[in-house]
Formats: sequence, structure tokens, C-alpha cells
Amino acid sequence: MKCVRCRDDAWVEVRRHNASYCGDHFIQFFHDQVRRAISHDKMFSKSDQILVAVSGGKDSLALWDVLLEEGYDADGLYIDLGIGDYSSRSRDYSEQFAAAHGRTLHISDMQQSFGVSVPLIAEQTRRAPCSGCGLAKRYLFNREAAERGYAVVATGHNLDDEAATLLGNVLHWQTGYLARQAPVLEAEDAGLVRKVKPLYRLSEHETAAYAVIRGIEYVVEECPNAVGAKSILHKEALNLLEQASPGTKQAFLLGFLDKARAQFAANDPHELRPCIECEQPTTTERCAFCRLIAETRDPKPRVARRYGKTRRGGDRRKIRAGDTATAGAVTAGVGEAEPPNSDDSPSPV
Ligand code: AMP
Ligand code: FES
Ligand code: ZN
Ligand code: ZN
Repeated sequence: MKCVRCRDDAWVEVRRHNASYCGDHFIQFFHDQVRRAISHDKMFSKSDQILVAVSGGKDSLALWDVLLEEGYDADGLYIDLGIGDYSSRSRDYSEQFAAAHGRTLHISDMQQSFGVSVPLIAEQTRRAPCSGCGLAKRYLFNREAAERGYAVVATGHNLDDEAATLLGNVLHWQTGYLARQAPVLEAEDAGLVRKVKPLYRLSEHETAAYAVIRGIEYVVEECPNAVGAKSILHKEALNLLEQASPGTKQAFLLGFLDKARAQFAANDPHELRPCIECEQPTTTERCAFCRLIAETRDPKPRVARRYGKTRRGGDRRKIRAGDTATAGAVTAGVGEAEPPNSDDSPSPV
């Protein structure tokens, strides 16, 4: 394989573009794609102060790197979710990158600020860990950026992430999420900060290649809670399609953004107001984050689980056949199915 630009040996193949690149030309290709996303979607300008949400993984560190190389004013935000060694290692990589580039990394530590961690939220509320985690991250991205005066929050979501989220939202016809799945979410309210995803045109394989070629050290392991997550299944399904037909993921995502999203967005009226507790913009009286923290500190009593033993030692199977109303009532709030891919929301919550 030869580089399509200089005919040297190619290092990275980009099948959906029918192209291969040597190291230097791949880096150029990567920058071109990011520049294209920023200008096509009018994400930000050189005068904006950008807060990059960094997880210590390849995508967000590659994003921070490319933005700095392009001359943007970009600091980092790391949210310590309290997920054991995984969180401490991710934090170390984020801090190392910030120090090596002489940039500020803000740390938001959930345990310190709210006295909770993602595992505790999952345990106390019986939500899937990724659900409480996603909600907390979206909330803190906005709150930290707004309080620190940043104009925009950039996340490292890539083409694979976005296509998998789209597939999940389509499979379950999550029309509200479809309305809000976009590379740019405008700040519709004074307390909201614009959210952007400059890597949405680049695949996971490409962000990994960029990080390796640029010598960026990142946490390779996945979050332990990701095992068995639906988003991984959706990524695998899309990878199968992509293998057989390169360009499928890009066509799926870009086609949705060009042709369909606006129709969902037109049918998604919502009004924002300040949360009565934290004053962050929300569509409800008390925002979902404040409700989540309250529930973690003071969990709802649990009467029964869907199968087997209840928390208090009762047995769900003892509910008689005629007790459907009771069974429904006790099940709601216990085994509630979380909406999949609640990855974007117009408000931080
Ligand atoms: P994920 O939800 O883990 O797929 O991550 C998507 C994006 O969210 C990453 O590319 C980061 O920009 C951001 N992100 C994830 N985890 C964190 C974290 N702990 N702190 C700050 N940003 C994060
Ligand atoms: Fe949120 Fe794993 S990073 S649960
Ligand atoms: Zn080349
Ligand atoms: Zn609140």
C-alpha cells in the first residue's frame, strides 16, 4: 500500500475514502477533517475559549492535541467519576498531557464535590452505571464550562460513537434524542454552553492512529462498566456492515444529519428554566442531576425486583397472578429501562 499523496509506504488505510496515507500525510488528512468539521458546522473560532472534555482516552486527547496544533485556545476538563483504578489512571494520562503541553486541566471530582461516585450512584439508584455516569458528565460539562467562562465544550465523540448512538436511537425510535443528536448543540439559554464534536467525521481507528503517530499516551483499557453495553453491540453491528461496504457508517450518520435531523428537531419543543436547587438550565423544576444525587443519598425503598429476591429478602415470585397492578407499581422505578444513548440533550440534564 502506498500513500495517495507521496507514494511512500502507507501506514494508515482509510477505506471509506479509498485512500491510504504515510504518517505525515495521515496527520494532514486528520487535521483537514477536523478543520472541515469546525468550518462546516461553524463550531468555534480562534477567539473562543474552548474547554475540551478529556477522559484520558485516545479520542479526547487526540482532539485536544489537534486543536492546540491548529492554534486554538483550548484547556481541558477531567471529571473524576470515582471508578476505581480506571479513573485514577485516566486522570494521570490527562494530567500528563496537560503538563507536557503547558495547558490548564480543570478537575471536577464527584466524590469531593457531591460525596458520590458513579459506582455508588449505580448501587443506590439501581440504574445502569453508564446511565448515571452519562447524566453526571453532561451536567458537569455544562456547569464547569459556564462557571469558568468558557464559550464552548468540545468532546471527543468520533464517527463510530455517533453512528452507534444513531443506530440505538433509531432502533428504539427515541425521537427526542434524534432531535438533539448533532455535531453542534447551540447554547439556547444563558446558562447553557455550546457543545461541539469536532471528531465526528473521523473513525475510532483513525483517532487511535493519530494518537499513536503523535506519540500521545492514553488509557487503553475501556471503562469496566462498558462490558456488555448496548453501544458496543451497535458498534459491532456497524463494523460488520462497514467491512462489507466501506462508507456505510459515514453515509448513515451524515445522511441523517443532512436529511432527517431537522424534522425531528422541529417536533421537539421544550422550555428551559433554572433548576430550583442548582440553577442550571433544565426542562423540569428540579434538574435530573440534583434528583439523581438526592436519590443516591436517600434511595427509594425497594419492594421487589423483577426476578428473584427483593432487597429486603422478599420474593417477587410470590406476587400472585391477579396482582398485576401491584406488580407493575413495584417494578416501575426498580427495573425501569433506561433510554439508550441519551448522549445529547438540549439542556445539560
Ligand atoms: P464516552 O462517553 O466515554 O464515550 O466519552 C465521550 C467523550 O466524553 C470523550 O471523548 C470525552 O470528550 C468526554 N468524556 C468522557 N469521560 C470523561 C471524563 N471522565 N472527563 C471528561 N470528559 C470525559
Ligand atoms: Fe461512565 Fe464507564 S465511563 S460508566
Ligand atoms: Zn505521504
Ligand atoms: Zn439542579
